[in-house]
Amino acid sequence: MALNYDEIVGKFDKYIFNTYTRQPIAIKKACGAVVTDVNGKEYIDCVAGIAVNNVGHCHPAVVEAIKRQSEQLIHVYNLYYTEQQALLAEGLVNLTEMDRIFFCNSGAEAVEGALKLARKATGKKVFIATEHAFHGRTRGALSVTHKEKYRKPFEPLAPAVFVPYNDAGAIREAITNDTAGVILEPVQGEAGVIIPDDGYLGEIREICDETGTLMILDEVQTGFGRTGKWFAREHSGIKPDIMTLAKAMGGGFPMGAKLAREDVAANFGRGDHASTFGGNALSCAVALSNIEVIKKEKLVAKASDLGAYLMEELKALDKDYVKEVRGKGLMVGMELSIKCEDIVAKARECGVLLNCTSDSVLRFVPPLMISKEQLDTVVGVINEI
Ligand SMILES: Cc1ncc(COP(=O)(O)O)c(C=O)c1O
Repeated sequence: MALNYDEIVGKFDKYIFNTYTRQPIAIKKACGAVVTDVNGKEYIDCVAGIAVNNVGHCHPAVVEAIKRQSEQLIHVYNLYYTEQQALLAEGLVNLTEMDRIFFCNSGAEAVEGALKLARKATGKKVFIATEHAFHGRTRGALSVTHKEKYRKPFEPLAPAVFVPYNDAGAIREAITNDTAGVILEPVQGEAGVIIPDDGYLGEIREICDETGTLMILDEVQTGFGRTGKWFAREHSGIKPDIMTLAKAMGGGFPMGAKLAREDVAANFGRGDHASTFGGNALSCAVALSNIEVIKKEKLVAKASDLGAYLMEELKALDKDYVKEVRGKGLMVGMELSIKCEDIVAKARECGVLLNCTSDSVLRFVPPLMISKEQLDTVVGVINEI
């Protein structure tokens, strides 16, 4: 027996922690770039679970991998070896050009592990993070997340110093003998799709090399083709010492990982870190099929082309309330001079799901397989509004 919208919301209101601001629709199913609510209304999805469904919702290859693997082996814990984890480790180490990987289940958990690793590797305690950064809500990840509203109730947090984003000199000045590492997003997502200058990551790499500071790149939101490269670090040609992944890693299936250079990873010995579900056979098989889809359907190049197209179309709207359209690949932000909440609501009524971040930035992170026609519809709806 299917519940109707009111019945579903009634149960949410009664039983679920009140930590999310939800839009007034209940989603029943999704396919490709389209989601359908319980009343049968369809929406073009420009949110994709916040940069998760890069291959599109319920991709047949991902669904097939879930079915196939779940009939054979779902979970056994890391007391044992599995073929699926071995293959995914090899695939991701090769794709990222890092040396070793540790599997977990979410972005915050990946960041948490990255910070622990940097502390153990350096014996130092302080992290340098960037203003407006978002790295997750667990305690370690929160300590390098900037927003006062998220941090304040949970202080004291682990020691962190915040410097302006896109200012490598500020990082140089902030480094002391107590600095374990610098953590940052290659494109700031939650902050409103903030794109740094071309040389920024390269400069940080140099500063970290000169001072013996670890560079941690949080690619949780930018990974798996989102910015028009497999990983956003490729735009600048640098390699971090530690890298975090999650979101699009499992094609919608929960997965996360941190990767590191060999000599950094060597600092984690037996018992230093663990995760019950990390790298279970099912999630690894799903992630492998997800990677195959991204390759086969050339979604990385598609993100680059479609992102450029979307930005051009959004810029052409030429409305006086649009301050700036910016982006990399299909991670696009449209900064408005007004709050964007009402636009999100109106777009939803017109069958388009949009996300608003930092109050006044419309963030477009649709599935990378979205069509030009669907993007045209989205831009048309925004134009109407
Ligand atoms: C850059 C970045 N790091 C970490 C996280 C936290 O990921 P999760 O929500 O999977 O814990 C996010 C989530 O938005 C993110 O954008």
